Amino acid sequence: MFERYTEKARRVVFFARYEASQFGSAEIGTEHLLLGLAREAGPLLSRLLNVERPLDELRKQVEKRLQTPERITTSVELPLSRDARSVLLYAADEYEGAEHWQHIGTEQLLLGLLRAEGAAAANILREYGLSLSRAREGIGRGEGDETSRRGEAWQAVGGAAAASKEPSVAEASTTMKIEHIGIATPRLDDALRFWRDALGLEVGHTEVVEEQGVRVAMLPVGGPRIELLEPTGADSPVARFLEKRGPGLHHVAVRVPDIRAALARLKGEGARLIDAEPRLGAGGCLIAFVHPRSAGGVLLELVEHTPATHESESER
Ligand code: CO
Repeated sequence: MFERYTEKARRVVFFARYEASQFGSAEIGTEHLLLGLAREAGPLLSRLLNVERPLDELRKQVEKRLQTPERITTSVELPLSRDARSVLLYAADEYEGAEHWQHIGTEQLLLGLLRAEGAAAANILREYGLSLSRAREGIGRGEGDETSRRGEAWQAVGGAAAASKEPSVAEASTTMKIEHIGIATPRLDDALRFWRDALGLEVGHTEVVEEQGVRVAMLPVGGPRIELLEPTGADSPVARFLEKRGPGLHHVAVRVPDIRAALARLKGEGARLIDAEPRLGAGGCLIAFVHPRSAGGVLLELVEHTPATHESESER
């Protein structure tokens, strides 16, 4: 279904699913697609809605309309709501109707959201004075817009396309870097007593990553960071690690420019992947793990920064 989607447009759907699960929603609604879009097409929305931080702003709007405070289980694959499916059909229609658009990108998704009249996202966008015609007019004029890059032969990213984008070894070695070093601890406070209080590092950022069952504290050390990991429950992978190996070095994370290309490359080299597909990690990054068996006994995490990556996380 997403073959004709650009990388960014795919991520919109990926993040929409994440947003829906964070909100405890039983399905992916248009409002979640809108939040996904705000992550991937921030500059476009910022310009069209005339707001500085579209993601924060729109999240407030979605929260205001929230009717189900009750969380449901997030382990199931969330389906798209009827309205959300209409949005994707409208987006495809926008693409088919315009000869100059070679792929379904974030702009087509925005038009799709606006065309699904009466749905939550269209209502929110309308409150900012954004109509379908204004959006059509304004699209492609900004720097961060996908269509403004039309001439640069941007390609849809499928399996084969991703593989063809694999960086060469020389290229890769200049663009990869150590992103963080993960250290497992049964109690963050105990670990902080050493890394923060005794050693003198500062805590840049803390958060709970529910998908991985960890509470995380990030302590920058120059470019890279120390990532302290405390399990949130007994069934967390880090809890199992602690039980087996005790506190200590848990994983090394390398930042890559394109995580899907990196995974395709590793797969081609016969490496054993824990995550065949990237998922959402701390700080809004895309992450994937490579099995220690393929990496000399070290659990390796690949990290790609996205527009959703926390300010404090980024050292671009
Ligand atoms: Co990590």
